Amino acid sequence: RTSAIAASIAVLALGLSGPASAQSPIIIKFSHVVATDTPKGKGAEKFKELAEKYTGGKVKVEVYPNSTLYKDKEELEALQLGSVQMLAPSNSKFGPLGIREFEVFDLPYILPDIKTLRKVTEGPLGTKLLKLLDAKGITGLAYWDNGFKQMSANKKLITPADYQGVKFRIQSSRVIQAQFKSLGSLPQVMAFSEVYQALQTGVVDGQENTWSNIYTQKMHEVQKYITETNHGYIGYVVIVNKKFWDDLPADIRDPLSKAMKEATEFSNAQSQKENDDALAEIKKSGKSEIIKLTADQDEAMRKAMEPVYKEAAGRIGQGLIDEFLKEAK
Ligand code: LMR
Repeated sequence: RTSAIAASIAVLALGLSGPASAQSPIIIKFSHVVATDTPKGKGAEKFKELAEKYTGGKVKVEVYPNSTLYKDKEELEALQLGSVQMLAPSNSKFGPLGIREFEVFDLPYILPDIKTLRKVTEGPLGTKLLKLLDAKGITGLAYWDNGFKQMSANKKLITPADYQGVKFRIQSSRVIQAQFKSLGSLPQVMAFSEVYQALQTGVVDGQENTWSNIYTQKMHEVQKYITETNHGYIGYVVIVNKKFWDDLPADIRDPLSKAMKEATEFSNAQSQKENDDALAEIKKSGKSEIIKLTADQDEAMRKAMEPVYKEAAGRIGQGLIDEFLKEAK
């Protein structure tokens, strides 16, 4: 018995001080709120694969999808506290952190396509926005796409008048709030993990999201109609705890940067397909009717949301909006 204890102490001591501990991996907890089978979910998995490969196993990435670790607001706090090291919140979720500028991406119809988006994120403005995170103890590493948002509800949403009085779940962006107010709707901020249930129980009537998010959260099963509006964009900023990142030895940080660069290319190359596939699955399920707008109806929606630009200028600054539009040209 005594010798068994002695032996286990010896094993323990070896484990603590021996070569095994010198090689114990650095853990990166990467928390996010969507399913694994989404543009972001797949991007996170790709980063894990490449990060572990390029560091020769010195880094282990633990991906926690579907809000299993934290919900929207908590995950940002957890990152600042160092309880997790990496996240990829949407551009629409930085307001509560005191950074409003990412909400410029929420302006209705500001991005005609992903090519235009790329010009902005890869240009000087994209870099400048990432720099704003430094002051919050956060380092911005990359921009990842999801795609364009559609409107869903239990009533047909065709004309701007149809939005009057409809309760919509929104992400925590004031620009999105202004967007729904411009339509006479009642926006309500809610964590992503709570949307399905809120739709199911009628706490809200509708929501806006990408095909991929709608499908993987089964929102189409509790929404009778989805209108193909493509009125706004959802994309992510991949972020890390700054101190954690800065303290990494260069021979770890460099391969991680390479892994992030390649995971970004991978993620952005597959996001469109994820959304196309999700749309096809929703159609196949027959659970939601998908409504397409005519050119005139589309024009009416754009017109109804125009005042959002003026209102957003008061929050994020006309200068920022102008800069965005210039780089998007
Ligand atoms: C949402 O809250 O609707 C999205 O930002 C979720 C996500 O991460 O795509």
